[in-house]
Amino acid sequence: MTSKHRFSTFAMALLVTFLIIMIALGFLLGPSHPLPWILIAVLVAIPYIHNRIVARRFVTWKDQYSVGIERLDADHKRLLNLINRLQMAADYYTGPGFVEESLDEVVDYTKNHFAREEELMEKYDYPDLEEHKRQHRKMVEKIDTLMEQFQQDPDRTIQELVQFLKQWLVNHINGTDQQYSAFLRDKGVS
Ligand SMILES: [Fe+2]
Ligand SMILES: [Fe+2]
Repeated sequence: MTSKHRFSTFAMALLVTFLIIMIALGFLLGPSHPLPWILIAVLVAIPYIHNRIVARRFVTWKDQYSVGIERLDADHKRLLNLINRLQMAADYYTGPGFVEESLDEVVDYTKNHFAREEELMEKYDYPDLEEHKRQHRKMVEKIDTLMEQFQQDPDRTIQELVQFLKQWLVNHINGTDQQYSAFLRDKGVS
């Protein structure tokens, strides 16, 4: 767990403890006083609010991400799952090597996916192949740079790395990858 997340867990525990004490003290004002009841409502709402905040950190597959080609959609869905796993590993440190293992999996799968996508585009002479390949290459270079930084200072780099992977991949799937969709489907790729 990064120091930032250790702090937020600590702050959350402190807030819950504070609320429980205030509720106990609030009842000294009498059961008809609204204060303890309001504080109980706040206490009950905390897990819900917390879950909403946590859920926003993860990516969910949307139908609009589909490129209409089953094997590539399957790749993209798997990529998003691996990124969520990495986000979880980064947020909740569960053991030595888990973050690294999750990171390696995302990076390897991303590179393999790029190769599969390029092979398909090459096979059908996709006209924008070179530009698409250039974008993949740039992404791989950036990943390699961030991976080097991660090796030197994992605690500081991991969140930046996860955010970058998440943003870049979702934008790429929902943008550049959409551009080959009609072309490849016209060629009968499904
Ligand atoms: Fe893709
Ligand atoms: Fe792509």
